[in-house]
Amino acid sequence: MERLKQKIINEGKVLSDSVLKVDSFLNHQIDPVLMQEVGEEFASRFQDERITKVLTLESSGIAPSVMTALRLGVPTIFARKRKSLTLIDHLYSAEVYSYTKQESNTISISKDYITHDDVVLVIDDFLANGQAALGLIDMVKQSGATLAGVGIVIEKGFQNGRKLIEQEGFRVESLAIVSSLENGKVTFKED
Ligand code: G4P
Ligand code: NA
Ligand code: NA
Repeated sequence: MERLKQKIINEGKVLSDSVLKVDSFLNHQIDPVLMQEVGEEFASRFQDERITKVLTLESSGIAPSVMTALRLGVPTIFARKRKSLTLIDHLYSAEVYSYTKQESNTISISKDYITHDDVVLVIDDFLANGQAALGLIDMVKQSGATLAGVGIVIEKGFQNGRKLIEQEGFRVESLAIVSSLENGKVTFKED
């Protein structure tokens, strides 16, 4: 997605060879017009899949998911990272290990919102080692629903997330694939 790549070039900050900061439009401040376009792009790529729910993880996955769900005319659900006072049992949950933070989190969603009749599209802002996406996929499997695929706003193509998801037989659609962040420079994989 050309506009997204331009935004990354213009506003992204390369913090190291492996971390790209995009707080001005995705992870802190959010650009609603760009998110709308992101939603339209995901909706178009998955339009033939008869999706009934869009699933993401709080917090940065919510904006692109809402825009995608709006376009598809379905609800979106965000998995929670912390135990909620009102979300106590009747849950699907999964363990997500973050290599970046070197900690494990239990993520969960209520069984009320995904059932075996659903066709689920998983969306996230970043794909690095794929642990968040695999945790979301695990919960979709627990529910008996069908997984239509995974939509990612920014994929770090030099990490192994895509490989792990594709090994499970699922489709991954990324709107920008960063192939390198070396020497402070963002390089995209050609598409
Ligand atoms: P993984 O799920 O792909 O294995 O990723 P990892 O554990 O390494 O990522 C932990 C958090 O860092 C996630 O956000 C993920 O989206 C984010 N992240 C990973 N690599 C980058 C990067 O290069 N740039 C930015 N900006 N974020 C990255 P999170 O903790 O779930 O936070 P949030 O959703 O509340 O923003
Ligand atoms: Na995220
Ligand atoms: Na994030």
